[in-house]
Amino acid sequence: MQDPHAIRDAFTERFGVRPRMIVRAPGRVNLIGEHTDYNEGFVFPIAIDRETFVAARSRPDTIVRTYTSQFGQEDSFDIGQIERSPDHLWANYVRGVVKGIRARDLPITGADLLISSDVPIGSGLSSSASLEVAVGYAMQMLNNINLLGEELALIAQGAENSFVGVQCGIMDQFISVLGQENHALLIDCRDLSYRSLPIPPDVRVVVCTSGVHHNLEKSEYNERRAACHEAVRLLKARMPKVSALRDVSPRDLEANADLLPPTILKRARHVVTENERTLNAAAALERADLVSFGRLMNESHVSMRDDYQISVPEIDLLTELACAVPGCYGSRLTGGGFGGSTVSLVTISAVDRFVTEVGTRYKAETGRDADLLVCRPSEGVSRTTAV
Ligand code: GLA
Repeated sequence: MQDPHAIRDAFTERFGVRPRMIVRAPGRVNLIGEHTDYNEGFVFPIAIDRETFVAARSRPDTIVRTYTSQFGQEDSFDIGQIERSPDHLWANYVRGVVKGIRARDLPITGADLLISSDVPIGSGLSSSASLEVAVGYAMQMLNNINLLGEELALIAQGAENSFVGVQCGIMDQFISVLGQENHALLIDCRDLSYRSLPIPPDVRVVVCTSGVHHNLEKSEYNERRAACHEAVRLLKARMPKVSALRDVSPRDLEANADLLPPTILKRARHVVTENERTLNAAAALERADLVSFGRLMNESHVSMRDDYQISVPEIDLLTELACAVPGCYGSRLTGGGFGGSTVSLVTISAVDRFVTEVGTRYKAETGRDADLLVCRPSEGVSRTTAV
Protein backbone atom coordinates (compact mmCIF):
# COMPACT_ATOMS: atom_id res chain seq x y z
CA MET A 1 0.00 0.00 0.00
CA GLN A 2 1.45 3.37 -0.95
CA ASP A 3 1.00 6.33 1.35
CA PRO A 4 -0.38 9.39 -0.47
CA HIS A 5 1.01 11.64 2.28
CA ALA A 6 4.52 10.38 1.60
CA ILE A 7 3.95 11.06 -2.11
CA ARG A 8 2.81 14.59 -1.26
CA ASP A 9 5.95 15.14 0.78
CA ALA A 10 8.16 13.75 -1.97
CA PHE A 11 6.57 16.20 -4.41
CA THR A 12 7.11 19.12 -2.04
CA GLU A 13 10.74 18.17 -1.57
CA ARG A 14 11.30 17.78 -5.31
CA PHE A 15 9.49 20.85 -6.61
CA GLY A 16 9.69 23.18 -3.58
CA VAL A 17 5.93 23.61 -3.32
CA ARG A 18 3.03 21.37 -2.32
CA PRO A 19 1.07 19.57 -5.05
CA ARG A 20 -2.42 20.81 -5.79
CA MET A 21 -3.79 17.28 -6.02
CA ILE A 22 -2.91 13.61 -6.03
CA VAL A 23 -4.69 11.19 -8.33
CA ARG A 24 -4.46 7.42 -8.56
CA ALA A 25 -5.15 4.96 -11.37
CA PRO A 26 -5.16 1.18 -10.91
CA GLY A 27 -3.47 -1.64 -12.79
CA ARG A 28 -5.68 -4.48 -13.92
CA VAL A 29 -6.00 -8.20 -14.24
CA ASN A 30 -8.10 -9.73 -16.97
CA LEU A 31 -10.20 -12.70 -15.81
CA ILE A 32 -10.86 -13.92 -19.35
CA GLY A 33 -11.03 -12.53 -22.91
CA GLU A 34 -7.42 -12.26 -24.04
CA HIS A 35 -6.35 -10.64 -27.32
CA THR A 36 -10.00 -10.11 -28.14
CA ASP A 37 -10.12 -6.35 -27.55
CA TYR A 38 -8.40 -5.35 -30.81
CA ASN A 39 -10.68 -7.79 -32.61
CA GLU A 40 -13.67 -5.76 -31.41
CA GLY A 41 -14.64 -8.59 -29.07
CA PHE A 42 -15.28 -9.04 -25.35
CA VAL A 43 -13.01 -8.76 -22.32
CA PHE A 44 -13.69 -9.28 -18.62
CA PRO A 45 -11.12 -7.48 -16.44
CA ILE A 46 -11.02 -6.09 -12.90
CA ALA A 47 -9.05 -3.08 -11.71
CA ILE A 48 -6.71 -4.13 -8.89
CA ASP A 49 -5.47 -2.55 -5.69
CA ARG A 50 -2.04 -1.84 -7.16
CA GLU A 51 -1.90 1.66 -8.54
CA THR A 52 0.03 4.56 -9.99
CA PHE A 53 -0.18 7.81 -8.07
CA VAL A 54 0.50 11.17 -9.67
CA ALA A 55 0.96 14.25 -7.50
CA ALA A 56 0.44 17.33 -9.63
CA ARG A 57 0.52 21.09 -9.78
CA SER A 58 -0.01 23.48 -12.72
CA ARG A 59 2.79 25.70 -13.88
CA PRO A 60 2.36 29.21 -15.30
CA ASP A 61 4.36 28.23 -18.42
CA THR A 62 4.14 25.43 -21.03
CA ILE A 63 6.70 23.07 -19.50
CA VAL A 64 5.77 19.64 -18.15
CA ARG A 65 8.33 18.39 -15.67
CA THR A 66 7.92 14.81 -14.47
CA TYR A 67 9.81 12.94 -11.82
CA THR A 68 9.44 9.23 -11.16
CA SER A 69 10.48 8.04 -7.74
CA GLN A 70 10.63 4.45 -9.01
CA PHE A 71 13.56 5.14 -11.34
CA GLY A 72 14.82 8.36 -9.74
CA GLN A 73 14.65 10.04 -13.16
CA GLU A 74 13.29 13.34 -14.42
CA ASP A 75 11.88 14.29 -17.80
CA SER A 76 10.97 17.71 -19.10
CA PHE A 77 9.29 18.90 -22.31
CA ASP A 78 7.36 21.81 -23.77
CA ILE A 79 3.70 21.12 -24.55
CA GLY A 80 4.01 23.17 -27.73
CA GLN A 81 6.43 20.68 -29.22
CA ILE A 82 6.20 17.12 -28.00
CA GLU A 83 8.58 14.53 -29.41
CA ARG A 84 9.48 11.04 -28.27
CA SER A 85 11.95 10.93 -25.42
CA PRO A 86 15.21 9.40 -26.62
CA ASP A 87 16.19 8.67 -23.01
CA HIS A 88 13.35 7.13 -21.04
CA LEU A 89 10.59 4.75 -22.11
CA TRP A 90 8.37 5.73 -19.16
CA ALA A 91 8.54 9.37 -20.22
CA ASN A 92 6.91 8.51 -23.53
CA TYR A 93 3.74 7.43 -21.76
CA VAL A 94 3.54 10.87 -20.18
CA ARG A 95 4.45 12.72 -23.37
CA GLY A 96 2.05 10.66 -25.48
CA VAL A 97 -0.89 11.40 -23.19
CA VAL A 98 -0.19 15.13 -23.06
CA LYS A 99 0.19 15.16 -26.84
CA GLY A 100 -3.15 13.31 -27.16
CA ILE A 101 -4.89 15.93 -25.02
CA ARG A 102 -3.31 18.73 -27.09
CA ALA A 103 -4.38 17.02 -30.31
CA ARG A 104 -8.00 17.38 -29.15
CA ASP A 105 -7.51 21.14 -28.92
CA LEU A 106 -8.06 21.09 -25.19
CA PRO A 107 -6.50 24.10 -23.43
CA ILE A 108 -3.81 23.00 -20.98
CA THR A 109 -0.86 24.62 -19.25
CA GLY A 110 2.40 23.07 -18.11
CA ALA A 111 2.62 21.07 -14.91
CA ASP A 112 4.94 19.51 -12.38
CA LEU A 113 4.18 15.83 -11.87
CA LEU A 114 5.56 13.25 -9.49
CA ILE A 115 4.86 9.60 -10.23
CA SER A 116 4.88 6.76 -7.74
CA SER A 117 3.62 3.27 -8.56
CA ASP A 118 3.37 -0.17 -7.03
CA VAL A 119 2.03 -1.89 -10.14
CA PRO A 120 4.73 -4.45 -11.02
CA ILE A 121 6.39 -3.49 -14.31
CA GLY A 122 6.45 -5.94 -17.22
CA SER A 123 4.20 -8.39 -15.37
CA GLY A 124 1.10 -8.16 -17.54
CA LEU A 125 -0.72 -6.03 -14.97
CA SER A 126 -0.88 -2.84 -17.03
CA SER A 127 1.57 -0.63 -15.24
CA SER A 128 1.78 1.48 -18.38
CA ALA A 129 -1.98 1.93 -18.75
CA SER A 130 -2.25 2.99 -15.10
CA LEU A 131 0.50 5.56 -15.68
CA GLU A 132 -1.16 6.90 -18.84
CA VAL A 133 -4.55 7.15 -17.18
CA ALA A 134 -3.21 8.77 -14.01
CA VAL A 135 -1.29 11.39 -16.00
CA GLY A 136 -4.28 12.06 -18.28
CA TYR A 137 -6.60 12.43 -15.32
CA ALA A 138 -4.21 14.73 -13.47
CA MET A 139 -3.91 16.99 -16.54
CA GLN A 140 -7.67 16.93 -16.95
CA MET A 141 -8.31 17.88 -13.34
CA LEU A 142 -5.60 20.58 -13.22
CA ASN A 143 -7.06 22.24 -16.29
CA ASN A 144 -10.75 21.79 -15.47
CA ILE A 145 -11.35 19.75 -18.59
CA ASN A 146 -14.46 17.63 -18.70
CA LEU A 147 -13.59 14.35 -20.41
CA LEU A 148 -15.83 11.31 -20.47
CA GLY A 149 -14.27 8.15 -19.09
CA GLU A 150 -14.18 6.54 -22.54
CA GLU A 151 -12.42 9.58 -24.00
CA LEU A 152 -9.73 9.50 -21.34
CA ALA A 153 -9.22 5.79 -22.02
CA LEU A 154 -8.93 6.45 -25.75
CA ILE A 155 -6.38 9.23 -25.23
CA ALA A 156 -4.34 6.90 -23.03
CA GLN A 157 -4.56 4.07 -25.58
CA GLY A 158 -3.59 6.50 -28.37
CA ALA A 159 -0.44 7.40 -26.44
CA GLU A 160 0.60 3.78 -26.33
CA ASN A 161 -0.28 3.16 -29.99
CA SER A 162 1.41 6.17 -31.52
CA PHE A 163 4.04 7.19 -29.00
CA VAL A 164 5.23 3.90 -27.61
CA GLY A 165 4.56 1.78 -30.68
CA VAL A 166 2.46 -1.00 -29.12
CA GLN A 167 -0.74 -1.51 -31.12
CA CYS A 168 -2.64 -2.42 -27.96
CA GLY A 169 -6.39 -2.55 -27.67
CA ILE A 170 -8.57 -0.54 -25.30
CA MET A 171 -8.98 -2.99 -22.41
CA ASP A 172 -6.25 -1.87 -20.01
CA GLN A 173 -6.91 1.86 -20.20
CA PHE A 174 -10.67 1.36 -20.12
CA ILE A 175 -10.69 -0.69 -16.92
CA SER A 176 -8.13 1.61 -15.30
CA VAL A 177 -10.57 4.49 -15.86
CA LEU A 178 -13.90 2.76 -15.25
CA GLY A 179 -13.14 -0.13 -12.87
CA GLN A 180 -15.59 -0.71 -10.02
CA GLU A 181 -14.97 -1.93 -6.51
CA ASN A 182 -15.80 -5.64 -6.07
CA HIS A 183 -16.88 -5.95 -9.70
CA ALA A 184 -15.53 -7.19 -13.00
CA LEU A 185 -16.50 -5.34 -16.19
CA LEU A 186 -17.71 -7.22 -19.24
CA ILE A 187 -16.65 -4.79 -21.96
CA ASP A 188 -17.79 -4.90 -25.55
CA CYS A 189 -14.74 -3.50 -27.31
CA ARG A 190 -16.72 -2.71 -30.45
CA ASP A 191 -18.96 0.00 -29.02
CA LEU A 192 -17.35 0.30 -25.55
CA SER A 193 -20.57 -0.54 -23.77
CA TYR A 194 -20.09 -2.54 -20.58
CA ARG A 195 -21.79 -4.34 -17.76
CA SER A 196 -20.43 -4.71 -14.25
CA LEU A 197 -20.85 -8.05 -12.53
CA PRO A 198 -20.09 -8.60 -8.83
CA ILE A 199 -17.31 -10.98 -7.83
CA PRO A 200 -18.87 -13.40 -5.31
CA PRO A 201 -17.63 -12.68 -1.77
CA ASP A 202 -16.46 -16.26 -1.18
CA VAL A 203 -13.73 -16.27 -3.88
CA ARG A 204 -10.50 -14.39 -4.42
CA VAL A 205 -8.72 -13.39 -7.59
CA VAL A 206 -5.08 -14.35 -7.14
CA VAL A 207 -2.34 -13.10 -9.45
CA CYS A 208 0.99 -14.96 -9.66
CA THR A 209 3.81 -13.08 -11.33
CA SER A 210 6.20 -15.41 -13.11
CA GLY A 211 9.27 -13.20 -12.88
CA VAL A 212 9.65 -13.65 -16.65
CA HIS A 213 9.40 -10.19 -18.15
CA HIS A 214 7.87 -9.63 -21.48
CA ASN A 215 8.73 -6.90 -23.88
CA LEU A 216 5.44 -5.94 -25.45
CA GLU A 217 6.94 -3.13 -27.42
CA LYS A 218 8.03 -4.36 -30.84
CA SER A 219 7.41 -7.87 -29.63
CA GLU A 220 5.17 -10.50 -31.07
CA TYR A 221 2.11 -8.58 -29.88
CA ASN A 222 1.90 -6.47 -33.03
CA GLU A 223 2.49 -9.60 -35.11
CA ARG A 224 -0.51 -11.35 -33.50
CA ARG A 225 -2.64 -8.35 -34.24
CA ALA A 226 -1.51 -8.36 -37.86
CA ALA A 227 -2.37 -12.08 -38.13
CA CYS A 228 -5.93 -11.31 -37.02
CA HIS A 229 -6.27 -8.63 -39.67
CA GLU A 230 -4.97 -11.02 -42.26
CA ALA A 231 -7.55 -13.62 -41.18
CA VAL A 232 -10.32 -11.06 -41.64
CA ARG A 233 -9.00 -10.09 -45.07
CA LEU A 234 -8.97 -13.70 -46.22
CA LEU A 235 -12.36 -14.57 -44.73
CA LYS A 236 -13.97 -11.64 -46.52
CA ALA A 237 -13.68 -13.62 -49.77
CA ARG A 238 -16.69 -15.63 -48.60
CA MET A 239 -17.99 -13.50 -45.74
CA PRO A 240 -17.91 -9.94 -47.12
CA LYS A 241 -19.74 -8.46 -44.12
CA VAL A 242 -17.04 -9.48 -41.67
CA SER A 243 -15.13 -6.42 -40.48
CA ALA A 244 -13.38 -7.96 -37.44
CA LEU A 245 -12.97 -11.44 -35.95
CA ARG A 246 -15.76 -10.43 -33.58
CA ASP A 247 -18.14 -11.11 -36.49
CA VAL A 248 -16.94 -14.69 -36.95
CA SER A 249 -18.35 -17.60 -34.92
CA PRO A 250 -16.33 -20.74 -34.23
CA ARG A 251 -18.64 -22.56 -36.64
CA ASP A 252 -18.08 -19.96 -39.41
CA LEU A 253 -14.37 -20.35 -38.95
CA GLU A 254 -14.41 -24.14 -39.23
CA ALA A 255 -16.58 -23.92 -42.34
CA ASN A 256 -14.11 -21.54 -43.98
CA ALA A 257 -10.90 -22.95 -42.58
CA ASP A 258 -9.63 -23.75 -46.09
CA LEU A 259 -9.23 -20.01 -46.76
CA LEU A 260 -6.55 -19.58 -44.11
CA PRO A 261 -2.93 -20.75 -43.86
CA PRO A 262 -2.42 -22.99 -40.79
CA THR A 263 -0.85 -20.39 -38.49
CA ILE A 264 -3.43 -17.72 -39.30
CA LEU A 265 -6.17 -20.29 -38.72
CA LYS A 266 -4.81 -21.07 -35.26
CA ARG A 267 -4.63 -17.39 -34.32
CA ALA A 268 -8.17 -16.79 -35.51
CA ARG A 269 -9.43 -19.88 -33.74
CA HIS A 270 -8.14 -18.59 -30.43
CA VAL A 271 -9.91 -15.26 -30.88
CA VAL A 272 -13.29 -16.58 -31.99
CA THR A 273 -13.42 -19.27 -29.29
CA GLU A 274 -12.17 -16.81 -26.66
CA ASN A 275 -15.00 -14.42 -27.44
CA GLU A 276 -17.46 -17.21 -26.91
CA ARG A 277 -15.76 -18.33 -23.70
CA THR A 278 -15.80 -14.78 -22.34
CA LEU A 279 -19.54 -14.40 -22.82
CA ASN A 280 -20.11 -17.84 -21.31
CA ALA A 281 -17.87 -17.00 -18.37
CA ALA A 282 -19.79 -13.80 -17.65
CA ALA A 283 -23.04 -15.79 -17.75
CA ALA A 284 -21.52 -18.37 -15.40
CA LEU A 285 -20.46 -15.68 -12.94
CA GLU A 286 -23.94 -14.21 -13.02
CA ARG A 287 -25.40 -17.49 -11.84
CA ALA A 288 -22.51 -17.92 -9.37
CA ASP A 289 -21.36 -21.04 -11.23
CA LEU A 290 -17.68 -20.83 -10.37
CA VAL A 291 -16.93 -24.37 -11.52
CA SER A 292 -17.93 -23.48 -15.09
CA PHE A 293 -16.11 -20.18 -14.83
CA GLY A 294 -12.92 -21.97 -13.79
CA ARG A 295 -13.25 -24.52 -16.56
CA LEU A 296 -13.52 -21.72 -19.12
CA MET A 297 -10.40 -20.09 -17.66
CA ASN A 298 -8.51 -23.35 -18.09
CA GLU A 299 -9.76 -23.72 -21.68
CA SER A 300 -8.71 -20.15 -22.36
CA HIS A 301 -5.21 -20.96 -21.20
CA VAL A 302 -4.93 -24.00 -23.46
CA SER A 303 -6.10 -21.90 -26.39
CA MET A 304 -3.51 -19.22 -25.69
CA ARG A 305 -0.80 -21.81 -25.24
CA ASP A 306 -1.54 -23.92 -28.32
CA ASP A 307 -3.34 -21.69 -30.82
CA TYR A 308 -2.24 -18.16 -30.03
CA GLN A 309 1.16 -19.35 -28.82
CA ILE A 310 1.78 -16.56 -26.34
CA SER A 311 2.59 -18.59 -23.24
CA VAL A 312 6.01 -19.58 -21.87
CA PRO A 313 6.94 -22.68 -19.81
CA GLU A 314 7.02 -20.77 -16.50
CA ILE A 315 3.47 -19.53 -17.03
CA ASP A 316 2.25 -23.01 -18.01
CA LEU A 317 3.86 -24.34 -14.85
CA LEU A 318 2.16 -21.71 -12.68
CA THR A 319 -1.26 -22.65 -14.07
CA GLU A 320 -0.56 -26.35 -13.45
CA LEU A 321 0.58 -25.71 -9.89
CA ALA A 322 -2.49 -23.54 -9.30
CA CYS A 323 -4.96 -26.12 -10.59
CA ALA A 324 -3.35 -28.80 -8.39
CA VAL A 325 -4.38 -26.93 -5.22
CA PRO A 326 -7.83 -27.95 -3.96
CA GLY A 327 -10.15 -24.95 -3.99
CA CYS A 328 -8.71 -23.42 -7.16
CA TYR A 329 -11.47 -23.19 -9.80
CA GLY A 330 -9.28 -22.26 -12.74
CA SER A 331 -6.08 -20.56 -13.81
CA ARG A 332 -4.75 -18.91 -16.93
CA LEU A 333 -2.22 -16.53 -18.41
CA THR A 334 -3.43 -12.95 -18.14
CA GLY A 335 -2.43 -9.96 -20.27
CA GLY A 336 -0.38 -9.75 -23.43
CA GLY A 337 1.67 -12.88 -22.81
CA PHE A 338 5.32 -13.95 -23.36
CA GLY A 339 5.84 -14.01 -19.60
CA GLY A 340 3.97 -11.85 -17.14
CA SER A 341 1.41 -13.31 -14.76
CA THR A 342 -1.34 -15.84 -14.28
CA VAL A 343 -4.75 -15.22 -12.79
CA SER A 344 -6.51 -17.85 -10.68
CA LEU A 345 -9.90 -17.99 -9.05
CA VAL A 346 -9.61 -19.49 -5.56
CA THR A 347 -12.20 -20.23 -2.91
CA ILE A 348 -11.57 -18.02 0.07
CA SER A 349 -10.81 -20.80 2.56
CA ALA A 350 -8.05 -22.18 0.29
CA VAL A 351 -6.25 -18.90 -0.40
CA ASP A 352 -3.54 -19.23 2.26
CA ARG A 353 -2.67 -22.76 1.22
CA PHE A 354 -2.76 -21.71 -2.45
CA VAL A 355 -0.31 -18.86 -1.90
CA THR A 356 2.13 -21.04 0.05
CA GLU A 357 2.01 -24.10 -2.20
CA VAL A 358 2.17 -22.34 -5.55
CA GLY A 359 4.97 -20.05 -4.37
CA THR A 360 7.05 -22.85 -2.85
CA ARG A 361 6.66 -25.28 -5.72
CA TYR A 362 7.35 -22.64 -8.35
CA LYS A 363 10.55 -21.67 -6.58
CA ALA A 364 11.56 -25.34 -6.23
CA GLU A 365 11.02 -26.05 -9.93
CA THR A 366 12.32 -22.84 -11.53
CA GLY A 367 14.49 -21.17 -8.92
CA ARG A 368 12.39 -18.03 -9.43
CA ASP A 369 10.30 -16.12 -6.93
CA ALA A 370 6.65 -15.73 -7.84
CA ASP A 371 4.87 -12.79 -6.28
CA LEU A 372 1.38 -13.88 -5.24
CA LEU A 373 -1.08 -11.03 -5.04
CA VAL A 374 -4.54 -11.59 -3.61
CA CYS A 375 -6.34 -8.80 -5.46
CA ARG A 376 -9.23 -6.65 -4.40
CA PRO A 377 -11.35 -5.50 -7.36
CA SER A 378 -10.96 -1.74 -7.10
CA GLU A 379 -12.44 1.45 -8.46
CA GLY A 380 -11.04 3.16 -11.51
CA VAL A 381 -9.11 6.42 -11.60
CA SER A 382 -9.91 8.95 -8.87
CA ARG A 383 -8.59 11.92 -6.99
CA THR A 384 -7.34 11.13 -3.50
CA THR A 385 -8.18 13.28 -0.53
CA ALA A 386 -4.56 13.73 0.50
CA VAL A 387 -2.88 17.07 -0.23
C1 GLA B 1 -2.21 -6.13 -23.56
C2 GLA B 1 -2.90 -5.02 -24.35
C3 GLA B 1 -4.43 -5.16 -24.27
C4 GLA B 1 -4.87 -6.57 -24.65
C5 GLA B 1 -4.05 -7.61 -23.88
C6 GLA B 1 -4.34 -9.01 -24.34
O1 GLA B 1 -2.50 -5.99 -22.19
O2 GLA B 1 -2.54 -3.75 -23.85
O3 GLA B 1 -5.03 -4.20 -25.11
O4 GLA B 1 -4.79 -6.78 -26.03
O5 GLA B 1 -2.66 -7.40 -24.00
O6 GLA B 1 -5.65 -9.35 -24.05
